[in-house]
Amino acid sequence: MAQIDLKSIIQNMTLEEKVAQLMQLSGNFYYGLAGEITGPFEEMGISEFVVKNSGSVLGVSGADTVRKIQAEHLKTNRHGIPLLFMADIVHGFKTIFPIPLAVGCSWDMELAEKSAEVAASEAAVAGVHVTFAPMVDLVRDPRWGRVLETTGEDSYLNSAFAKAFVRGFQGKDLAVDQMRVAACVKHFAAYGAPEGGRDYNTVNMSERQLRESYLSAYKAALDEGCEMVMTSFNTVDGIPATGNKWLMRDLLRKEWGFDGVLISDWGAVKELIPHGVAGNEAEAARKAILAGVDIEMMTPCYIRSLKNLIESGKVTETLLDEAVLRILKLKEKLGLFENPYRAADAVKEKEVILSESNREVACELAEKSCVLLKNDNVLPLDKQQNIALIGPFAQSSDILGAWSWQGEVDNTANLHEALQALTTNVTVAQGSHVETITDEQVTEAIEAAKAADVIVLAVGEYASMSGEACSRADITLPEAQLHLIKQMKTINKPIAVILFNGRPLDLHGVLDEADAVLEAWYPGTEGASAIANILFGKVNPSGKLTMSFPHTAGQIPVYYNAYNTGRPYDGVSRDHYLSKYLDIPNKPLLPFGFGLSYTNYIYENLRLSSDTMTADEQIQVSVTITNTGNYTGEEIVQLYIRDMTGDVVRPVKELKDFQKVSLNPKETKEIQFQLTEAQLRYYHQDMSFTSDEGLFEIYVGGSSEDVLTGGFTLKKMYTNL
Ligand code: IFM
Repeated sequence: MAQIDLKSIIQNMTLEEKVAQLMQLSGNFYYGLAGEITGPFEEMGISEFVVKNSGSVLGVSGADTVRKIQAEHLKTNRHGIPLLFMADIVHGFKTIFPIPLAVGCSWDMELAEKSAEVAASEAAVAGVHVTFAPMVDLVRDPRWGRVLETTGEDSYLNSAFAKAFVRGFQGKDLAVDQMRVAACVKHFAAYGAPEGGRDYNTVNMSERQLRESYLSAYKAALDEGCEMVMTSFNTVDGIPATGNKWLMRDLLRKEWGFDGVLISDWGAVKELIPHGVAGNEAEAARKAILAGVDIEMMTPCYIRSLKNLIESGKVTETLLDEAVLRILKLKEKLGLFENPYRAADAVKEKEVILSESNREVACELAEKSCVLLKNDNVLPLDKQQNIALIGPFAQSSDILGAWSWQGEVDNTANLHEALQALTTNVTVAQGSHVETITDEQVTEAIEAAKAADVIVLAVGEYASMSGEACSRADITLPEAQLHLIKQMKTINKPIAVILFNGRPLDLHGVLDEADAVLEAWYPGTEGASAIANILFGKVNPSGKLTMSFPHTAGQIPVYYNAYNTGRPYDGVSRDHYLSKYLDIPNKPLLPFGFGLSYTNYIYENLRLSSDTMTADEQIQVSVTITNTGNYTGEEIVQLYIRDMTGDVVRPVKELKDFQKVSLNPKETKEIQFQLTEAQLRYYHQDMSFTSDEGLFEIYVGGSSEDVLTGGFTLKKMYTNL
């Protein structure tokens, strides 16, 4: 690849041209093209000069469209600087994969990586260069509508997924492998912890908590070579992330050494004004550039103010030049100076997008993402059984989930179609109509159910109920659906509920009424086929929850790796003055790591190679697992630790490793984990990242709550400082 002298390009650019590189506009600004609108829209009075010299475009795709915009741009840009095309390819481009929260439940890094690779290839041929993914925000509050975009509540697992997604999107060399796209990890930082679960709300947490739980997945993405970072909308320690110098300059750039492009979220620079830390656009621009934001997405603070700020000495031109250089470097890395059209190719679009092999990956991932929450001998179904398929998701193809803007509902089979592909014994009684269920529809459903052997109830959150700006205070199913379930219960036929949703729900009225419950999430383009395969036993469900399901919204936040209290409640004690609720248990309704199978596994004989460990030793943890049932299955074996006496309070459990193991009926396998001292480290009072001498408990099992227990003592304290 020819080396471009980027610095001399920058030297020849005017201030206005340099500032324009920092502007990101949606497609609407380019020749009247419609683009993806993912935030509040402001006309901004953008001049033709800015459009012609802008650095990047948001939410535009399609090989012909992208080529046209790029060609026009290069005709007028006097330095020949190509545009960067960025878009939200969050869980697929047109072949839509299950929502990331579902992918989390697969615990399958290889498939997650593959899904990102497929998404990248589809996006690349459609002209996209950068995806605004992975979203790795750690979440503990299912009221927040964006929990569907993350892989869950555990930092270890989220970090592993962050790496897998980055590998899948970017491959090894973006210049050589043009079927990949640059990744942009988001939303830095701690966007997943808004108070009350209300989107964009304040985030308030200690630096310890931030470092210990929330930052590791962003860091993991960067360690894997992620090219870009997006700021978050929220405050971090009272300062909005987009203007937070400590977060971006000190931590991200200096401490972590990140030298890639930092982009604001949509409008987040100007939002420094309503946040109350900037009095006007100029102040917002100044704070954002000082904090290290290179690209301003969709508000005009940089465009209108940076030149004056530099000319009046309030911002140095060096800061601007550094930002421009980072942007140009990314363009160079993507090979855009040599081939500004990169992989955009209308012929390839037809070959690659929604190909059979891409759909197969989507189906496999959906199969592995479903979590069986309950099964009292109802599933798998027998093809001879007469099935009454009922509920608002029975014939709905709107099962792609948020952030699937290029996904095509028309190219997505619904559950009825998928079941019909496997059996003729299905009667559909939709029993509902979008968000209302009439009495006639309930009657129709009851008639269908009476004539059937088994009821399959497809219920859930309508697509508009989860995603960005879709926080909910009450996380139950819509009332009409709960009523429908109750009515079905009166018929005394086995009920299998299939759930389509984007967050852990309050499942009262579902889990207690149904005989079987399959959590399908929003499973994507091939989701219905995946569910049908599971319902008929072609596939044995193996997913495990990566976010706890609360008893009720009043229990939120409830997550597995919480701290103990000074007055812990064991669930039975009669002492009044303990940390508990009067009306619900402390534990979640369904814990992290939980998920059933059509077979059963027995865990036995937990052994540790030694009952002591020093810093340079490792302990081997072994366990024996037997598949005692009649189906081949894949079990996710989880290893947790607890540091019994820490320098600061330690979580009651922390996931440290896991393995996926396939077992034939009656087969037994021994599983081994290696545990090292490095895995026991955490941030101490003085913020040193080190471990404690003393007792550690070890837990191994099929969920965070169903474990065998062992222990060892760490003998020699180790410090990395
Ligand atoms: O990438 C998204 C972000 O997650 C939310 N605001 C808009 C961005 C661009 O679409």
